[in-house]
Amino acid sequence: MGKKVTVVGAGFYGSTTAQRLAEYDVFDTVVITDIVEGKPAGLALDLNQSRAIEGFETKVVGVTTGPNGEGYEAIEGSDVVVITAGLARKPGMSRMDLLETNAKIVRQVAENVAKYAPSAVVIVVSNPLDEMTALAQIATQFPKNRVLGQAGMLDTARFSNFVAEALNVPVASVRTLTLGSHGDTMVPVPSRSTVNGKPLRDAMPAEQIEELVVKTRNGGAEVVALLKTGSAYYAPSAAAARMAKAVAEDSGDVMPVCAWVDGEYGISGVYLGVEAEIGAEGVRRVVETDLDADERASLLAAAEAVRAKQGDVSSM
Ligand code: APR
Repeated sequence: MGKKVTVVGAGFYGSTTAQRLAEYDVFDTVVITDIVEGKPAGLALDLNQSRAIEGFETKVVGVTTGPNGEGYEAIEGSDVVVITAGLARKPGMSRMDLLETNAKIVRQVAENVAKYAPSAVVIVVSNPLDEMTALAQIATQFPKNRVLGQAGMLDTARFSNFVAEALNVPVASVRTLTLGSHGDTMVPVPSRSTVNGKPLRDAMPAEQIEELVVKTRNGGAEVVALLKTGSAYYAPSAAAARMAKAVAEDSGDVMPVCAWVDGEYGISGVYLGVEAEIGAEGVRRVVETDLDADERASLLAAAEAVRAKQGDVSSM
């Protein structure tokens, strides 16, 4: 049977994610939902009308959902659900400022996902990311491997872009890695970063790497400050769509994602940015990588920071 993916939230992040998923042409159906009357149906019409030009067969279906779960029947049978519902940052806000508002939204969405798409893999992108991922698992009661969050691919892509620009090399020659939280305790991993297969540390001085690390950590805020009305969506949607594709294709690709960590790196019982092998069941396994002492210490610190916040979301 053909694959079905649902994107909840038809804002900037959701609509661009739906577009990318449709253009892959690997799904039978892309469902996009929102609480705004008409918006998802309008986007679906528009996307379907691009099929003849872009050359894809995937059908896009847009559905408005109601406060009591009206409309959620449309997501039945989804293999993957991407949750983008929630407010985005405005200039000066941290992701954590969205916590209470988005917790209410994500809980309501997750409960409906559990009811109508009980075997789906859930990919959370709403912010604050690590907390919303933990909350979605609690609200769905899905096995922890079936709920994961998108952040590491995005942070990694930002880091790679900054390195490529600084060295004036093709972005394809750059490999970087970021772990930890999608926030202040993000952990860029220079020891695992390369340019043309050679260590990043040989390609630029330590101070410049540190500058780019800081720029990466502030990557989202820099976009917010320029856009003024919302947050980034092109790079975020590229990352989320790739994750959904990896699930649908049971690809086994290893990606940096927000996953439940249970013993790896000596860390347990927390959703945290780590590398993981992605397949039809969501996270097949967390892939532990070699870190130097500083990076390991930063990852442990990130784990404790998000653990404290994730404890709060269960009551939200
Ligand atoms: N169910 C479905 N959709 C909802 C719900 C809900 N309960 N509540 C809000 N939405 C929708 C809004 O109607 C809006 O269309 O979520 C959409 C959010 O869109 P934008 O405001 O454009 O925000 P976007 O840039 O898409 O970001 C979404 O991703 O990166 C994170 O921090 C960002 O949490 C934010 C999320």
